[in-house]
Amino acid sequence: MSDEMLETLTQQVLRGAKYREIAPALVRRIGAQELAKRRSLKEAVKATKNKLHQVGGAYQPGRIDYEKGLEMLRETATSTSLSTGVSSPHFRAICHSMMQAHASTRERLPILDEFYQTTLADLPPIRTVLDLACGLNPLAYPWLPLPPDVQYTAVDIYGDMLDFIQQFFALAGVNGRTEQRDIIGNPPTEPADLILLLKTLPCLEQVDKTAAANLIDALNGRFLLISYPAQSLGGRSKGMVENYTTQFEALADGRSWQVQKFEFVTELAFLVTTDS
Ligand SMILES: C[S@@+](CC[C@H](N)C(=O)[O-])C[C@H]1O[C@@H](n2cnc3c(N)ncnc32)[C@H](O)[C@@H]1O
Repeated sequence: MSDEMLETLTQQVLRGAKYREIAPALVRRIGAQELAKRRSLKEAVKATKNKLHQVGGAYQPGRIDYEKGLEMLRETATSTSLSTGVSSPHFRAICHSMMQAHASTRERLPILDEFYQTTLADLPPIRTVLDLACGLNPLAYPWLPLPPDVQYTAVDIYGDMLDFIQQFFALAGVNGRTEQRDIIGNPPTEPADLILLLKTLPCLEQVDKTAAANLIDALNGRFLLISYPAQSLGGRSKGMVENYTTQFEALADGRSWQVQKFEFVTELAFLVTTDS
């Protein structure tokens, strides 16, 4: 495999409408793996697109109308009194409806009221949050039991989604920023009080079996909220809680972590207290 071939593959993949917003570093990482495995550039391009679909596109079954979402949020933000702000029922209703556009946040909607209240109940004051492979989860901000000036960093691979989230932060008055980043090749190492890794580790392991452990080794968070889906994208759930509990235990093995386990109908979560 030559550098030139990898560059050609990357450009070809990024020309596709469904892939052009994805962080080029992840396209290159997957492209290099596929070029090493496949017989031709054409096959490698197709396999790269399939893998990118599995780890990203599959969660966005339709085109997400970010403009419309922003328009609705803008209207509400201007008509909502500053005293109620993001906690106003109308603002929350729009966030709720936007979260339906991403399969991962959609699955959390039935448990959203209890999910953060329960998992984050016993935490000391949190000043910094890192939401890794965030999808549309930053829209759950009004449900988070966190201080209003918390610094929130949202990271994912989709540039258009992050632009939307950055504008959402401005409208919601959140002290937030976004980063387009492949967290497999470039895990964030900055200290954070709370790191959210929601339903993400199995997704990263589809690209690299060692990705979850490498990421955990690199992170510098005092508390980690790690979760797994309790049902597949197709709705099947058989054995998933047991399998993911075993996966989590393997990841936790040998680390000096304190762990609290939470089982919700659609999600299995572990709150980890690290020794950082
Ligand atoms: C299962 S979804 C979880 C989304 C969100 N954490 C939640 O629970 O609602 C997986 C997310 O990982 C993102 N993703 C996939 N590979 C990634 C990578 N290498 N680096 C950063 N984000 C990635 C996808 O775009 C997608 O938003």
